[in-house]
Parts: sequence; C-alpha cells; structure tokens
Amino acid sequence: MTKFLWGSATASYQCEGAWNEDGRVPSLWDVYLHENQLEDGDVASDFYHHYKEDIRLMKEGGQTSYRFSISWSRVITDKFGTINPKGIAFYQRVIEECLKNDIEPFVTIFHWDLPDYLEKEGGWLNRSTVDAYLNLCRVLFDKFGDKVRLWATFNEPRYYVFSGYFIGNYPPAVHDAQKTAQASYYMMLANAKAIQLYRKMKQTGEIGIVHSYGPIYGVDDSSETKQAMRDADNYYNNWVLDPAILGIFPKDLLEKLISSGIDLSFIQENDSQIFKENTVDFIGLNYYARVIIAPYKEGETVLSVNNSGKSAKGSSKIVVKDWFEQLFDLPDAEYTDWDVEIFPQGLYEGILMVHEKYNIPIYITENGVGVYEDVDHPIEDNYRIEFLNDHIDAILRSKKDGADVRGYYVWSTMDLYSWKNGTEKRYGLVAVDFNNQCSRKPKKSYYWYKKVCDSNGKEIQQNRKYKSKGISTLSLIRGEKDELL
Ligand code: BG6
Repeated sequence: MTKFLWGSATASYQCEGAWNEDGRVPSLWDVYLHENQLEDGDVASDFYHHYKEDIRLMKEGGQTSYRFSISWSRVITDKFGTINPKGIAFYQRVIEECLKNDIEPFVTIFHWDLPDYLEKEGGWLNRSTVDAYLNLCRVLFDKFGDKVRLWATFNEPRYYVFSGYFIGNYPPAVHDAQKTAQASYYMMLANAKAIQLYRKMKQTGEIGIVHSYGPIYGVDDSSETKQAMRDADNYYNNWVLDPAILGIFPKDLLEKLISSGIDLSFIQENDSQIFKENTVDFIGLNYYARVIIAPYKEGETVLSVNNSGKSAKGSSKIVVKDWFEQLFDLPDAEYTDWDVEIFPQGLYEGILMVHEKYNIPIYITENGVGVYEDVDHPIEDNYRIEFLNDHIDAILRSKKDGADVRGYYVWSTMDLYSWKNGTEKRYGLVAVDFNNQCSRKPKKSYYWYKKVCDSNGKEIQQNRKYKSKGISTLSLIRGEKDELL
C-alpha cells in the first residue's frame, strides 16, 4: 500500500508573483485586476524567487507532498502554442527541488489563470479553448511526465465557472446562466480529453480532477427540501463528479437546465463517448464548508458572496430562482469573517458520501481556514491548529469507516494572494510579510503540522464536538435521519 501523503497546496497566480518576468504573458486575472485597479498578484508571495526556501520549509516541516499549479501564461505565450523555455525551466527547477527533498509533486494543470490571449478569443465559452488546453497538457506530460506521478486536470471548475460567469465576482465577471452552462461543459470535456491524452501518451502516474466540494444538507426532511437538496447537489457537485467519475451528466440536471431555459446545443453527439471512455483515476476534494439548503420560496436569483471579510460579515446570500436557497445563518453555527461555516463533520460525511456513491480513491487536496493575522509578532495560531486537527480527525474517521483517502493538503503552504479577498486573508502554515520582501516565518501551526506528518496522524486529538445538524445527503442515501435543525 502506498504511503498516505501529508502535504500543503498553493496555486500559481496566488503565490508566484513575477507576473511579467522571463517571458510570462498576462492572464485574465492580471488584466481584470489591473483594469479595475484592484489588489493584484503581481508579486503575491514571490514564490518565483523563494521556491527553494519554501520547499526546504516543507521538507523541514515533515511534509511529503506539494500540490501546486502551472501558470499557463508562463509556459505557452500565444494562441499559436509558442512554448516559453524559461517558463518550462522554472517548473523543471520546482519539480527537481521537490524530488531532491523527497516531496512528491502533485501538479494542477489549470488553477484559474487562463492566458488573456485565450480569454480575448472567448475563453471557456469557446470549444477551441479545449484544444488549446490539450496542447498545454501535451507539453506538460511530455516535459514532466516522467517526474510527476500525480496530476489534476483542473482545480475547482465549479467555483471558477460560477464565480466568473454566474456570480460575476471573478473575471470575466458576467452574470449569465447560459454562459455558465456552456463554460462548465467545455471544462468537463477538456478534463475527459486530457485524460484520454494522458493515457494515449502512455503516462504512468495517476490523473484526476479537483472539485470544490460542498456536501449538501437540508433544513428538514420534507419532500420540498429533499428536491431542493437534489437540485443543489447537481448545481454544486454532481455536474463535476458524475461526468468525471462516471462519464455521464445527471439526467435530471440536464432536464432542469432545459426547463430553466438553457440551450444545450453546444453538446455534440460524439462527446458522450469521450466522457464515457475517459474517467478519472482519483478525485481531489477541496473542503471548506458544507452547504445548507432550503426550498426556493420567491423572488429573483440573488448571488452575494462576502469577499470583504469582517466589514461584510453576515452579508452572504444565495437564492437560485426555482432551484433552492442556501442558508448562512444557522443558530449555534460558527462562521469565519468571510461567512464560511466551520463544520468538520461535513468533511467526514462528505467523504463517505463520495465513497459510497462512487467508490474511488480520494485526496483531500485543500482544507484550511482564512483569518486576519498580524505577522509582526510570532503567530500563535491555535484556532488554525484546532481547525486542522478536527478536519484531519474527520478524515481519519472516514478512513476507518472504509473510505480510500490517500493524502491531505493544507491550504495553504504559505500566506498568499486570496483572489478578491487580497492578501489580508491568510491561510498559510508559514507567514509571509508582504511589506518586507515577502520574508517567511513559520507559524505555530507549521510546527504542529510537522508532528502530525512525522507521526502519520497519531498526533491528532479526537474531536468530540462533531454532532451533525441538518439532514445530510448521506443520511438520505442511507435512509437514516439526522437530528433536524
Ligand atoms: C479554493 C481555491 O476555492 O479555495 C483556492 O482552490 C482559494 O484558490 C481557496 O484560495 C480559498 O478561497 P479564498 O477565496 O478564501 O481564497
């Protein structure tokens, strides 16, 4: 049996910086943030110049794997597929450095930073972006396939597409259900085709996809709530998990899209075969919180998410007309300043749901808590230690109950640029002083996590506060009833 991997994760745009160095061209994020004069990732954590120190810290911190993503704009610099040797050389150095330090590299091919030259051509609304993506994959498999054993085609297509095309708080910043469905579909098609290519190129590692997992819970066990839970599960999870793992989209999702006025003529006849024949080796789950659902009552769709932290605490609201409502104000629940509920039991039940429904190897590819922190002082982040402890405990319990979980990645390796939340929302095991040449300082949680990694999880204390509230999809699958709200 392979060893459980203990690691941490980052994404290219969020940590690399060096946005215009050594031939990198702008991504859609560079353009969007610059044009709107928003906090950007031009420097981010300056990983481009600090990668050796960061990988050394991972090694000294007991970690055995590092999940990071490739900046497409750094390696392929125009729509004709021109390769940038300096971009390739950078990732070559990162991978070599990982291997030298006995760190298993886990490469995400796309973590949201589409090159702007492709966005200008229509981005993920354009079928030809699937071909451009495959070209990127071919280059990466060819250059790094002998060194990298773990590949993720995409990070969180659901979060990326819904934020960019439905909520509109991420680039390309539109609110359009038709475009949301189309971009979602092309990304999943690109996932299947990348898997096909990986196998055609006779690569010997494993390839999967990383999903922003929101296990669904309902407010009661009425039939209206159960229907809303199913629709929410399709909206949040199944349109990624089903085609990726089973090779097919849920029938009731397609029916619901049609009845909601979506034109599905972008689906071509031959696609279904490609989906069926090319499914993932594993599923990566990023877990931050569960999703609590009530039936849709009335009014227009409302999609407000809190990217402002404490000044907007409690402002999150999601109503999808004719589908469901999502609650963010449960009595007794604990929320971060960004309205993210802290609920480790959702990870335990969520893993078992995926295990029972799909029976597939699982990596927990992201999990962590974003907070304000003052890096001028040593960071005694006991809240993060408690958060990570309780979530790792949930994973260990799910393993005991039969789930095949093979690795865990703390989000994030070091503090980084948290998209629209900027750099003040910190997730890192290592603090980055953004005002002082991005100098690094491990937090208390970094030393604690080292003990967890070194002891292969024996350091974890059993979490005793994990009473489940609400009715979960897991209990529906199993026909059990949880305590109601
Ligand atoms: C995941 C993403 O959705 O959550 C990361 O894969 C992201 O890129 C992380 O940073 C935390 O979200 P946020 O918005 O707090 O940075």
